[in-house]
Amino acid sequence: MDRIETLMGEMTLAEKLGQLTMTAAGYAVTGPIIAGDSTEAIKAGTIGNLLNLVGAEPVREMQRLAVQESRLGIPLLFGFDVIHGYRTAFPVPLGEAATFDPQVWSLTARESAREAAADGLAMTFAPMLDVARDPRWGRSAEGPGEDPFVGMRMAQAKVLGYQGPDLAAADALAAVAKHYVGYGPVTAGREYASVDISERTLREVHLPPFEAAVAAGVAALMPAFTDLAGLPMTAHVALLQDWLRGRLGFDGVIISDYNAIGELRQHGVAADLAEAAALALNAGVDIDMMSDAYRRGLPIALARGLVTVAQIDRAVRRVLTLKQRLGLFDDPYRRGAAPEDAAAVGRRRQLARDVAARSLVLLKNHRAALPLAAGVRRLAVVGPLADAAAEMRGPWCGVAEAEGQVSVLAGLRAALAADIRYAPGVDIDGEGMTGIEHALEVCTDAEAIVLCLGEAARMSGEAASRAHLGLPGRQREFAEAVLGRARSSGTPVIVLLFSGRPLIVPWLVEKAGSVIAAWFPGCEAGNAIADVITGRVSPSGRTPVTWARAAGQIPLYFGQRPGGRPANPNDHFTGKYLDVPNEPLFHFGHGLGYGRFTLSNLQVWPRRVTAADTLTVRVDVSNVGERAAEETIFLFTHDKLAQVARPVLELKGFGKIDLQPGGRGTVELQLPASELRFLGAGLEPVLEAGEVEILVGPSAQRSVLLVEIIRVFV
Ligand code: BGC
Repeated sequence: MDRIETLMGEMTLAEKLGQLTMTAAGYAVTGPIIAGDSTEAIKAGTIGNLLNLVGAEPVREMQRLAVQESRLGIPLLFGFDVIHGYRTAFPVPLGEAATFDPQVWSLTARESAREAAADGLAMTFAPMLDVARDPRWGRSAEGPGEDPFVGMRMAQAKVLGYQGPDLAAADALAAVAKHYVGYGPVTAGREYASVDISERTLREVHLPPFEAAVAAGVAALMPAFTDLAGLPMTAHVALLQDWLRGRLGFDGVIISDYNAIGELRQHGVAADLAEAAALALNAGVDIDMMSDAYRRGLPIALARGLVTVAQIDRAVRRVLTLKQRLGLFDDPYRRGAAPEDAAAVGRRRQLARDVAARSLVLLKNHRAALPLAAGVRRLAVVGPLADAAAEMRGPWCGVAEAEGQVSVLAGLRAALAADIRYAPGVDIDGEGMTGIEHALEVCTDAEAIVLCLGEAARMSGEAASRAHLGLPGRQREFAEAVLGRARSSGTPVIVLLFSGRPLIVPWLVEKAGSVIAAWFPGCEAGNAIADVITGRVSPSGRTPVTWARAAGQIPLYFGQRPGGRPANPNDHFTGKYLDVPNEPLFHFGHGLGYGRFTLSNLQVWPRRVTAADTLTVRVDVSNVGERAAEETIFLFTHDKLAQVARPVLELKGFGKIDLQPGGRGTVELQLPASELRFLGAGLEPVLEAGEVEILVGPSAQRSVLLVEIIRVFV
């Protein structure tokens, strides 16, 4: 008999429930610690998994307790939120998405896994794959942005990166795709609120990234806190059992979110902990994180006949199988056995710097104010985020220490021999304005002003919904003062905007010379920003979210359907606002560089396709600017006539090209015709005969796209 079956034969009910329990081990937690001190329980074999334990030593000691002092010696599984780095903070996922580079997405996950596994960890609660189209929702920062195709590519890249080629390797982490599913469209962008979307939107927009994660072999999955039209995801039989396990064939572990099983009572679908536990187990949730509902509730649920021992056994088998796949039985101390050498850490910092530079999106560059002139002598670096090293980490920054982060000021001082003067002006969200005068003095005589504005790290991530999406505190007053003074002296102002979401700042974009969306760039923020500002690196980030002009435009995303009365400025009774244009401030995919690109000669073949064909799409790209730069090309489709109205643009691919000034090249993308399928009226995939537009260009701005038409035959 194999190891797992032998263990199954020996385990008591309490030991089985221990394997289905994950409890926090006294590190920064996001809710109450319900299970108390776990040491005795680990020895008793009644806690099988821990989260938030940090450091190779404590992890090893806890593992020793489980392996040597518990009756059956089953190793513990240690999980942690390694979202965009563990000790080394990479850009927040939304910023990373802006690189539009799956290789980068994989690499940062690989490096984060190495770093976390060197501390003995074996599981990360990542990647977060929730498509986010409402920037009020703070968790927009944690995921791929507004588009499901980007989410799919990110899912695949991240799973491969975290898990590596061999899950049993000492540097591999089990990935947990989260939060399944449809957490992004919480009502009014309010954290944890109920979700009510159509089945079509669920299937077309929110499920695909999870399907991609499952196809990539993700080890585990976490249901969202939220309910979908009244059914909490933690108890959602149709989506967990039928869709995920049944239709997608997912046989990995389903782990609840933090206390989510217990919260089935607050949702109003479980009368007590036993009912809550039964609902979750019946839906297929294997591990209870932090509710202690399985240990306390399942014995009662068993007695009441709400669940069976066979169901518990199935869940335990899945957990033990994951531990086996992770190599924990063969060598429970494999991870965390040896500290990393300094070279590995140094390489990771370099990667963090490169990726951070690539995540910056140059939104505007009036009169090419950037890059800064090489001989700049006097620079003013002002604003509450100018010397805010700790904020650069953004939300969910693992165990990155505040001291290890490079602020904008520090990065610019290291890069430039100029006289750099600094003043914060105002706090990020305080009411005080007395610092403004001093900041204005600091700006006097400067040849350029770097104005660092935005959100604090804690303003995005979990429990960080915002109703006002402008600059917090008194930053607007401060920025207006600086911009006003600069206008009268003719000094260029470069705005660095830090945020975990697209902010709504049309006035700022209008008045500032250059604006960079910096998101939260991570530990190398200042150095990466200096690389871009000085022109060492040409900015190449492209926004993975549409930027609205007004909060009333939300939700605003490129993949909308046309409606029966598309906006027409000459016709009153068409789909538009009276007080704001429909157009966003910045389209999805927008981003400037120091080169300037033209696209021509779109070629698509074959022009007549069946489901078995693959389209080749080529476009010539020329850099007509004066500096080397990278361009990103997006491939969209539009099915103009179908049984179900299709979005005006659907993203199907993206690619990149590096070109010297005067350089010319070709970007080629492949598109299997089968990907032109969509969900028909009955929600089953169909490929319809007819014409489809193939659109290629630098962003989702329809007017700049090159278009060809192909014909589909079925
Ligand atoms: C979050 C999850 C996270 C978990 C563990 C929860 O509050 O929703 O994303 O993985 O905590 O820290």
